[in-house]
Amino acid sequence: MPADAVPSAKDRAEGYVTEIGYTFDYHPRTNPLYMRLALRRAGLEPPSVAQACELGFGQGVSLAIHAAAGSARWVGNDINPDHVRHARGLVEAAGVAADLHAESFVDFAARTDLPSFDFIVLHGIWSWVSDGNRAAIVDFVGQRLRPGGVLHVSYNALPGKAAMEPLRHLVVQHARQADKGEGIVPRIDRAIDFAARLLATNPAYLQDTPGLARSFDTLKDADRRYLAHEYFNRDWRPMHFAEVAAHLAAAGLVFAGPAGYSGAVESLLIEPAQQAMLDGIDDPVLRETVRDFLLNRGFRYDYWIKAPVERDAGDGLRDERIVLVADKPALPFEVRAPLLLRGKGPPDATVSAVLDLLSDRRARSLAEIAASLGGQASLADIADVAELLLGQDLVGAAQSDREAEAARGATDRLNARLLDGFEPGAGRRALASPLLGGGLTVSRDEAGLLRGAQPGDPGMTRLRSLMIA
Ligand SMILES: C[S@@+](CC[C@H](N)C(=O)[O-])C[C@H]1O[C@@H](n2cnc3c(N)ncnc32)[C@H](O)[C@@H]1O
Repeated sequence: MPADAVPSAKDRAEGYVTEIGYTFDYHPRTNPLYMRLALRRAGLEPPSVAQACELGFGQGVSLAIHAAAGSARWVGNDINPDHVRHARGLVEAAGVAADLHAESFVDFAARTDLPSFDFIVLHGIWSWVSDGNRAAIVDFVGQRLRPGGVLHVSYNALPGKAAMEPLRHLVVQHARQADKGEGIVPRIDRAIDFAARLLATNPAYLQDTPGLARSFDTLKDADRRYLAHEYFNRDWRPMHFAEVAAHLAAAGLVFAGPAGYSGAVESLLIEPAQQAMLDGIDDPVLRETVRDFLLNRGFRYDYWIKAPVERDAGDGLRDERIVLVADKPALPFEVRAPLLLRGKGPPDATVSAVLDLLSDRRARSLAEIAASLGGQASLADIADVAELLLGQDLVGAAQSDREAEAARGATDRLNARLLDGFEPGAGRRALASPLLGGGLTVSRDEAGLLRGAQPGDPGMTRLRSLMIA
């Protein structure tokens, strides 16, 4: 390449796949509202989010939904120009301002015209880019996240992903060796077919690796766009929690807590002797390492914070609102049974009482819920129930009615566009919910209902409370 030539996106991507676009999924953990509740749950003061940034926003579905449904102003980058075009189309349709750059992490980190951010998110980036890009991301976060600000990062975690490394190596090696210049999807298909035939011969690696057959079964039928971006980049680097902690410490960040609400259910899986060991560990990094070991986690979603301020856990939590989002307000049997049998977690009667109360689909603060249940449960009990229900996607965090009302015009405009783009064969897709300040995943049937929504349509109850009322 001549010295003065501008490198293509493919060259600048340093081995990251650019020839095929990514999926159109929505990621709730990148929602500032979702983060706020999780931080409060962890006893930390969440930042108020006016400026937010998504690094590597993909098709931009999450970013556009948050820009339309919430009150933060969003900035972001992605190296793939097709992704950026799609994301710009969504924010323009919503009629909201967002600042989207078709740039690599390295170029984006070198910018001098960006504000300080209260919230920076990166989902599906950390394990899949080169060391140089990871360093640029850490540098960016160190420079651009304000004190008290929060980072969300997800990644392939060890030890859970360790057994996949040889399988990933195998399919990538096959895809490279069999490259006949026919494009990435046929190469992936043939590599998966090759791996399936190899595993069918019952190799010793399969015999010695419980769980590998199940992982491969999931992988072999996965969306090829997902597989291309998950396994077929040059870099694929699962990490131990302590390694990520060391990288982020260089940007001044400490662990704030898991970005999610699966803790209540996870704690049911941990045996008493294991819990006793966990309880004896003071160092938060070693404790998380041991938890990952106990649960064999293969993926982590976390929040990290710069210069945290600790709060009494009850402070602020009392005003957080939740609303029913599920069709059927019932805890799945696999969660309810261990709760009942082990006596760990919130009492079954309190869980049922909260679900009953929320079945009118009105958003309520945790304090309001506690008051409605009389003396039956404390605010702390209600917070435990809320965590359990959030972890099961039965409820979502809700913003105030005033904020929801303010978002309504932009979410309606964005939803019209998202509904148009419901491609044939698409399963579930996210739309923007003004009440959730974020996305609500709906089925094709529900999307059909929304297109021709009549006030009396059966099946509209859930949608009306979250999208229309
Ligand atoms: C697995 S996708 C995740 C996309 C999005 N965050 C999501 O979860 O839907 C990774 C994204 O990172 C982008 N990407 C990869 N390497 C990059 C780089 N060096 N600079 C900027 N973006 C990059 C890709 O184009 C892709 O959109």
